[in-house]
Amino acid sequence: MALYKKLTFFFLAFFFFFSCLPFSLSSFNPKCEPAPPIIPVAVYPTDVDLIQFALNLEYMETDWFLFGANGRGLDSVAPELAMGGPPPIGARKAKLDPVTQRIIAEFGYQEVGHLRAIKSTVGGFPRPLIDLSSHNFAKIFDDAVGFHLNPPFDPYLNSINYLLASYVIPYVGLVGYVGTNPNINGFLSKRLLAGLLGVEAGQDAVIRSMLYEKAFEKVKPYNYTVAEFTVKISELRNKLAMCGMKDEGIIVPLELGAERRTTSNVLSADADSLSYSRTQAEILRVVYGTGDEHKPGGFLPNGGNGTIAKSFLKFPHHQ
Ligand SMILES: [Fe+2]
Repeated sequence: MALYKKLTFFFLAFFFFFSCLPFSLSSFNPKCEPAPPIIPVAVYPTDVDLIQFALNLEYMETDWFLFGANGRGLDSVAPELAMGGPPPIGARKAKLDPVTQRIIAEFGYQEVGHLRAIKSTVGGFPRPLIDLSSHNFAKIFDDAVGFHLNPPFDPYLNSINYLLASYVIPYVGLVGYVGTNPNINGFLSKRLLAGLLGVEAGQDAVIRSMLYEKAFEKVKPYNYTVAEFTVKISELRNKLAMCGMKDEGIIVPLELGAERRTTSNVLSADADSLSYSRTQAEILRVVYGTGDEHKPGGFLPNGGNGTIAKSFLKFPHHQ
């Protein structure tokens, strides 16, 4: 009898709950808008140049990923976003396996969105001349290992080479956004920067994870593993930026691993596992490949566009 009463109670409670559910759902009015900003300024005038600076890297990423995946770049997807800037040098379709091709195509389209979002929030400038040639990457890889690789490194040859070459790019954008963050004030600028940083970090994480799966495989025909190449590239970036250790390969000595407990390093981060940050000058030293923000070269043979990059070129001895 006691069991019968318990069961009756259970079924009554069950039907009562579900008969009330439609009513409670329809009367619930969820809010999806965030709280109004404490300081209601969307974009501060000082935000503009800082966020626009990122366009230099976003342009580079757009054409790098779109060409690599599809053999055609920004001009084939949203030519107006290039604002009349020249097409990139030496960009072409890479020989990618189907999964890598789809991932890289997605990244390329994401970059188009980034360009649009930046321009619609803070305005923009034309695409600078960007060197995505095999020759430029071969030089970066030679500089990384410290001698002429033979044959020269070809980023477009296969998926692993393309991913290693991709290791060079979004990471610089990611640490740049972390560096810009404290200097941004407008609520819309902050929202934009966080959104860009999130996807940039995601792209870097995917590229690094794909490389990590092959960390101990040799990159043919060279005598370096995938992990060793990442370490060499990270060391080169640290050397060029000249501001200490802010860049780590996918396998590291224990003292650089998370909590000093692992040599696995799928994500590059500091002692508290926070992303490193870089200034605009550091970023230019790296992407110019010259170690000098006043001396263009590398990916941007004529230098970056926008107020910040141009200010370094204009006053080479006073910055
Ligand atoms: Fe981006």
